[in-house]
This record gives sequence, structure tokens and C-alpha cells, in this order.
Amino acid sequence: MDYAKCLAFGGGREAFLRLSDIGYDESAVCGRLGLDDITDITWRAIPIYRKEKLFAREPLECAIDIFLLQGALSQEELDLLFDEDGQKTLCGCGVLSSRGDKWVSNLSCYPVGGGFIVSDHAWPKLPHPGQCAVPHNQVMYIGTDSRWLVHATVRREFESALDLCTGSGIHAILAARHTKRVIAVDINQRAVECTAFNAYLAGAQNVEAVCGDLYEKLGDERFELITANPPFVPSPVDELGYRDGGSDGESVQRRIVEGLPCRLSLGGVAQIVTELGEREGDSLPDRLRSWLNGAPLDILVLRLRTHSAANYAISHAKGDDSYEEFFESVDEWATNLSSQGYTHISSVLIAFKWSDPSCGEPWERMEDVAPPSADMGYAVEEIFAAERLSRLSDLRELLESRKIRRLGNIGLLEASQLGNTADMKAQAQLLGVPLSIGRWLDGVELNILLALHTPKSLSELTEEFGGGGELLLDKLRLLIRSGFVTLC
Ligand SMILES: C[S@@+](CC[C@H](N)C(=O)[O-])C[C@H]1O[C@@H](n2cnc3c(N)ncnc32)[C@H](O)[C@@H]1O
Repeated sequence: MDYAKCLAFGGGREAFLRLSDIGYDESAVCGRLGLDDITDITWRAIPIYRKEKLFAREPLECAIDIFLLQGALSQEELDLLFDEDGQKTLCGCGVLSSRGDKWVSNLSCYPVGGGFIVSDHAWPKLPHPGQCAVPHNQVMYIGTDSRWLVHATVRREFESALDLCTGSGIHAILAARHTKRVIAVDINQRAVECTAFNAYLAGAQNVEAVCGDLYEKLGDERFELITANPPFVPSPVDELGYRDGGSDGESVQRRIVEGLPCRLSLGGVAQIVTELGEREGDSLPDRLRSWLNGAPLDILVLRLRTHSAANYAISHAKGDDSYEEFFESVDEWATNLSSQGYTHISSVLIAFKWSDPSCGEPWERMEDVAPPSADMGYAVEEIFAAERLSRLSDLRELLESRKIRRLGNIGLLEASQLGNTADMKAQAQLLGVPLSIGRWLDGVELNILLALHTPKSLSELTEEFGGGGELLLDKLRLLIRSGFVTLC
């Protein structure tokens, strides 16, 4: 697919917008395919989708088939999607091609955040479009990692944003809705052209797509929002530009982090979705801290999923033609991971902000959380705010002058070992907050949460507990940090 030529031909925006009229959006697609989440679409199930979910061949079903499942439509089915002019334009642009008596699309079109993002197909080896090798400059489809970053990005108003490793431009185009000026950078010229095409489709005139190696073309400009989904796979091969991150997986992600201190504005936020290899005795936050070279930024790592090195090697190995080839590939991947000392590989969302000196030293924090599934950028900011509040040097004075309240609904789980009632434990989980934090509580913390059924000042709590000012303050710091209580 030649995105630059497509754009030069006119691009067919009107025709693409027709897809909105037939209700082609994320929830309708999930509903029709019977999925909880659009990232659950898998090529292995294509025959089942077609037979069980798309048999009525209504317009939405035909759009799903041609633009998400790489299927072929008959002329009658294509007529349900586009009028004659639309079809002519899309053929002229190179989006649609005929294959015998059927029509196929040379790009995938993903419903994202109320709009569309196009990219190369997710599964180039499927019978259509018939490629037998994935080219190095393939423009990445909208993957699970892309959608995680979409959901976790802070969506407040910014003056300027930078999306590194932009691929289809998905993060740049979404940022353009709440940012005055967005720069989208990719080293792959085809990705830059695809981003320009997506910006045109979205009517986002404030997106500038730049071909370059990370920060190299940016002068000395700083940005309030920086997003990145770099190639991150610790790989023994260099086959896919969007995937392979060198044998340790860090060749691009490390340079992104190293460059942040010169690129992130004060008050801004940088957010990266990536995978990191984990070694015994080497914490991920410490590694990220060392990449910052002493720059005072706070680091939040949200760990979403962890894979054992063995499973990781198996899932990346190739060898469709023979067991022998497959086993050799598994061995090659496993050997590479073991030479890096990686026991596990974790999917993470990382956020950086300049540290606030009134909260002491720059901090780093890691939480295991469920992957984000809706607009949760605000929850990322809430974790920063809670961590900072808990670290304030004058927190005691604040707690004396203000009241403390529980933040949202809190779910309590109790657990006790059979035969040992002394070892009773309670776990609290904040409900109603998307990136929820769960913690085991000791008796004092539990009692504080129970006592805060109405907001109270520190002195009221101290009186209720019959003293224990210092201990109470420490426990309140912990509860604030975990997001269970805050000031009102
Ligand atoms: C994992 S894909 C992410 C695509 C898109 N941002 C997304 O989230 O769907 C990584 C992208 O990084 C680009 N890339 C790789 N090395 C780069 C570099 N040194 N500078 C800029 N972009 C790079 C690749 O071409 C690819 O488009």
C-alpha cells in the first residue's frame, strides 16, 4: 500500500467517513463479533466469525470482513458500503483492488476512539493479500499495546505533544484532539506517510509527521506530552522494524528515556508502553532511573502482564513449515533471552514527570494493575498526585487544618489461615477507579478506613484512637499513597 500516492490521489476521506454512517465503531464491532474487547480479534477465529457472526452480510458485517479480517467482498456487498464515486476514488487511491470477481482492501481500517486509523494488515501471511514475507518497513497494525497506551494517555489540554515511534500515528492523532501542535516521528518513511494519511482522514491539521531517528530532527523543543510505543521485543533477529528492539530489547526504548530530560516540559508527562526483560535482583524502576542519568524525574511503572522467558520464546518462534525449523527458532529465542539474564518479560506502562522538590527526593514506584480498558489517563495522574501528597514534608500541618476522607468506594476482602485466627488479614481495593490499587492492610490501617465513614481531621482521628499521632501519620501516608484516602 502506497500511502503517499493514496493521499496525492485525493485519499477518499468522504468514502471512509461513510463507515461512520453504517455504525462501524469499536463497540458495534465487538458486539457483532461477540467479543469483550476489540483486541480479542484473532485470525485463527476468522472462519468462525464469518460463519457464525457475519453471515447476514449487512453493511457493518461487510466492513468488518474487508477492513478488519482481510476478507474479500462481492460487488453487491461492496455496493452496501460505498457508492459508485466512493468505489472509484478508493480504487484510484489504491485502497481497493479487484481479485477475480471479488474486492479486497490493501489496508486495514481500525475503529479507534470514535474515528478510524488505517495501517498495513495485521496478518500479511493470510491468503489475502498473499505476501509470503512480512517486509521490514511494515506499518504496525493497531495492537493490544497500541490500545493500552491509547487508554492510559493523559487527556488534558496541552500546548505541544510529541509521539515517538508513531507507526500509524494513532497516538499523535488522538493527542491532536486536546493538543495545539503535535509532532509524530518515525524512522520508517512508510509509517510517516501512513501517519500523514491518518491525520488527513481525521481532519487533524495540527499533526506534523516527521521521518527521523527519535529526537534527531527536533531542534531543542520541549513537549508537554510525550508518548511512545517503541519496538521492544528482545530479539535474536532484525526482521520487523516495528517489533525488534535488539537482543536486549532496549535499543530504542533506552534512548527514548535517556532523552526525556531534554525534551519534557516542566508540568508535562511522558508515557511509554513497552515490554522490559526482568532479571533476578535488577528492579525495573532502578534500570529506568539509571537511564535518566541523575535527572530528577518521578517514575511510575504499571506492570500489566508478565510472561516467562520460555513462553515468550515459544510465542515468538517461527517455523510454519516444519517442527525442526520451529524447535530451532524456539532455541534461538530462548538462548537470546537467557544470554540477557531475563527470566521474565513484562508488559508495562511507564509514566515520567519532573519531580516536585517539596515532596523530597525523586521517587520511583511500581504497581501490578489490570490493563487499562477505557479512558484512564486521569487515573495515572491521580496516582502521581497521591504519591506526591503522601511525601509532602508538611503533611502533618495539612492534615491538622483539613479533613481526611475516603476516596471512592473501598472493597474489603478478609482472609485467615484455617486454625490460626490471630493471622487474620484484610485486603482493601479501591473500587470505581479504573487502574485500581489493592493492598493488604494491617489492623490500624483497617480501623482508620472504618473510622473514616465520615471525613475527620488528624486530631479527631488521634482522639478516637486514644493517641498514636506518629503511627497514625505514617499509616495515613500509606493510605494516601495507595489512593484510599485524600484531603477534603
Ligand atoms: C511498536 S511500533 C508502534 C506503532 C504505533 N505507535 C502504535 O502504538 O501502534 C514501533 C514503531 O517505532 C518505529 N521506530 C523504530 N525505531 C525507531 C527510531 N529509532 N526512531 C523512530 N521510530 C522508530 C517503527 O518504525 C515502528 O513504526
